[in-house]
Amino acid sequence: MDIKFAAEGRGDAIAVMAADKAQLLASGQALDAKTNGAIAKAMQTARFTGASGQMLEIFSPVGVDAARILVIGVGDLERAEGAAAEKFGAAAARKVNGSGGEKLVLHSETLTHLTAAEAAARAAIGARLGVYRFDAYRTKLKPEQKPSLQEITVVLDGPAAARSRYEKESTLVEAVHFARDLVAEPPNVLYPAEFARRLKELERFGLEVSVLGEAEMEKLGMHALLGVGRGSARESQLVVMRWKGLRNANAQPIALVGKGVTFDTGGISLKPGPGMEEMKGDMGGAAAVSGAMMAIAARKAKANVVGVVGLVENMPDGDAQRPGDIVKTMSGQTIEIQNTDAEGRLLLADAVWYAQDQHNPTTVIDLATLTGAVIVSLGHEYAGLFANDDDLAGAIVAAGQAEGEPVWRLPLGPAYDKMIDSPFADMKNIAGKPAAGSIIGASFIKRFIKDGVKWAHLDIAGTAWKPGPYDDPLHPSWATGYGVRLLNRLIAHKFED
Ligand code: BES
Ligand code: MN
Ligand code: ZN
Repeated sequence: MDIKFAAEGRGDAIAVMAADKAQLLASGQALDAKTNGAIAKAMQTARFTGASGQMLEIFSPVGVDAARILVIGVGDLERAEGAAAEKFGAAAARKVNGSGGEKLVLHSETLTHLTAAEAAARAAIGARLGVYRFDAYRTKLKPEQKPSLQEITVVLDGPAAARSRYEKESTLVEAVHFARDLVAEPPNVLYPAEFARRLKELERFGLEVSVLGEAEMEKLGMHALLGVGRGSARESQLVVMRWKGLRNANAQPIALVGKGVTFDTGGISLKPGPGMEEMKGDMGGAAAVSGAMMAIAARKAKANVVGVVGLVENMPDGDAQRPGDIVKTMSGQTIEIQNTDAEGRLLLADAVWYAQDQHNPTTVIDLATLTGAVIVSLGHEYAGLFANDDDLAGAIVAAGQAEGEPVWRLPLGPAYDKMIDSPFADMKNIAGKPAAGSIIGASFIKRFIKDGVKWAHLDIAGTAWKPGPYDDPLHPSWATGYGVRLLNRLIAHKFED
C-alpha cells in the first residue's frame, strides 16, 4: 500500500474528522460547502454526534469527485491525542479496504494536542495498523473478500513535515506486523528453529543475532528450559539479539526477555482439547521482544538493548518431563516440577538468568503469555505488570497508556513467595492452590532476578491475542502485536540518552 502526503489529493473515498457535538473540522467544513450542506444534513439525519468511533458514510456526494465521503468521529477535542488520529486513519482505511475502494484521501487536521504533521503521520500509521490481515494460508478468498485499498493520500498544508515524521516511525508498523505474523503463524510452520531463522534475518537492521541450540544450553546448565522442550521433536533454541546504540558499546544494557513457547499442549499435564489451538500464540512474549528489537534498531536508538527469547515446544511424549521431576537451573537453584503446564516460568528462569549472567543488564523486563489467571483478573484489556522498582513500573504504565497497550500493576510479596517453597527442591513451579495464579507466576520468575537488578514482568496472556469481534480499529486481527509499541516507547522515553 502506497502512502503519500500532499496538499491535495483525489480518490474514490474522502475521509474527514468530526468532533463532539457533530462539529466538522476545517476540511470537513470545506467539503460540506462543496456538497451544498449535504454532509451536515446527513449528520443530522443519522444522529451522528462525532463521538470517537462513530462513522457516517455518504455515497455519490454531489459536487465532489469521489464515490463516498466518510465522516469519522474523534470525540472530545480536548482529549484527542495521537491515538485519536490513529483510529481516524484506521477506521477510514479499513472501511475502504473492505468495500472495494482503491484510493483513499485522508484529510488530517491540527488538533488541540497535535500539530498537523503529527496528526497526519499518526493517521497514516493508524491506517496501516488497521488494514493488517493474516491471509497467508487462505487460497480461496473471493474477489470481494480481498483487500482493495492501494493508495492513501494524507492531505494537509505542509505535507513535507508529516512525511518525514511518518518515515521515522514507519518501521514501528512493520515491527508490530512482524510480531502479529509470528503470533498468528501455525505451530507446524513456526517451531523454535524456524522462529530463530526469522530472527536471524533481523540482522539487516543492524542487530547482532546469535542462536544457541540444545548442546550449548546443556553446557550452560539450562535444564529448566531444556526440560520444557524434552517432549518435542523440535530442537529448543535461545536467541540473543543485541543492539548497541551507545558510544560505549560495553555500557550496561537493558535486557528484554520473552517467553517463546511455539506450542503449549501442557505437556504431560495435558491441557483440555477445546481451544488448545490458541496455544500457537504462546510465543507472544518472544514476538513482542523481537518486534521491539526490530523497531529499536531501525530507528538507531541511543541505548544498549539485548533481547533474549527462549524458544521451545511443550509436548507430551515418552521422553517428556514429568510432574515430580526435579531440574537444576542455570542459576544453580533446583525446581520440582509439579505441573508441566506451568512451563513458561521454567524457561524464563533460565532465560532471565542467562541475560543477567552473560550481559550484566541494569534492568530486566520479561514478557510472557504466562497465566490464564491474568485473563480472569484483567480480561483482554490490560496486561498484568509486576515490578521490584516503582520508577520502572511507573514508566511502563505511562508507555503502555501512551501507546494504547495498557498495563495494570499487581502486587508481589513474601506471603506469595513462600507458597512456591518445596520440601524436595528449592522451589516448585506451582503453588498448589488455585489462588493468585498470576502473582505466583511472577514470584517464581523473581527468584531468578539478581539482587540490585531492576526487574519488571508483563503477563500478556490476555493481550497477545484477542477473541473477536475485531472491531477495535487498530487491532483488526486475532494477533495484536501487543508489547512492541510499549517497549519501543519505554526505551525511547526512559532509557535513551
Ligand atoms: N500458556 C499458558 C497460559 C495461557 C492461558 C496463555 C490462556 C494464554 C491463554 C501457560 O503456560 C499455562 O498453561 N499456565 C497455567 C499455569 C497453571 C498450571 C499454574 C494456567 O494458566 O492454567
Ligand atoms: Mn502451559
Ligand atoms: Zn504456556
